[in-house]
Amino acid sequence: MSFKFIDLFAGIGGMRIAFEKAGGECVLTCEINEEALKTYKANFKPKGTHVYFNDILKLESKLVPNHDVLIAGFPCQPYSIAGLRKGLKDERGGDIFLAILRILKDKKPSSFLLENVKGMMNHEKGETFKFMIDSLSKCGYTVQYKVLNSMSHSNVPQNRERVFVVGFRDPIKAEKFEYPKETPLTKTIHDCLETQQVSPEFYYTDRYDCYKEISKAVKSKDTLYQWRRQYVRENKSKACPTLTANMGSGGHNVPHFL
Ligand SMILES: C[S@@+](CC[C@H](N)C(=O)[O-])C[C@H]1O[C@@H](n2cnc3c(N)ncnc32)[C@H](O)[C@@H]1O
Repeated sequence: MSFKFIDLFAGIGGMRIAFEKAGGECVLTCEINEEALKTYKANFKPKGTHVYFNDILKLESKLVPNHDVLIAGFPCQPYSIAGLRKGLKDERGGDIFLAILRILKDKKPSSFLLENVKGMMNHEKGETFKFMIDSLSKCGYTVQYKVLNSMSHSNVPQNRERVFVVGFRDPIKAEKFEYPKETPLTKTIHDCLETQQVSPEFYYTDRYDCYKEISKAVKSKDTLYQWRRQYVRENKSKACPTLTANMGSGGHNVPHFL
């Protein structure tokens, strides 16, 4: 199946990999972070006509090529329902979700996939999420959503729950759509790691206090460990905790293992 898609909030292109594997051609990439874009460009060589854009808030619909699918793993910025409602009345509203909505309204792709943290569903007692689903439906889409976890739905040993919102303009296609079913987790972190020597700059040489504690505690090959500010926590689930963008800075999310 061949189709065209646009990759919004593209990061380093995780979602693009899946859509290219399914036969899609990426016609626009939108990503504001220059470092992420550098990695993205190293990961994907340009093919055919392709547009790069940085800030979605400045992206005018007339610059967006026609496409069949819009994909957006949009940032979990603090939303304000009041701001969203106001922004909906004022089309220039500077909100990221409204920018997605504007492209959907103007370009009318046949489907979309939005991804965000599970917690987004509870923000402001569920009001924000409800607003989003209602707005997407009013845009002409049949909308469905489901929380999936990479460790139970894709055999990736990371405990990462995300809500996936899917919309189709054609209700028959929406009815045929099925979310992936659960699949057993057979891979471990050791299946995912590179085997080559890691360069010294990736070690916490400035944090000898926690490094000493971690070296003492990390004993079993089948366990993941996390530094929790004062102590090392054992995690016997065999799945890595959610990897986050600021892993290196706080330290406590970082998994350790033998
Ligand atoms: C959760 S990450 C998406 C990761 C991506 N889906 C992937 O698979 O790698 C959100 C991305 O949105 C980008 N972003 C934030 N604000 C933006 C804006 N105004 N315009 C474009 N990109 C933006 C961030 O730099 C970040 O890379």
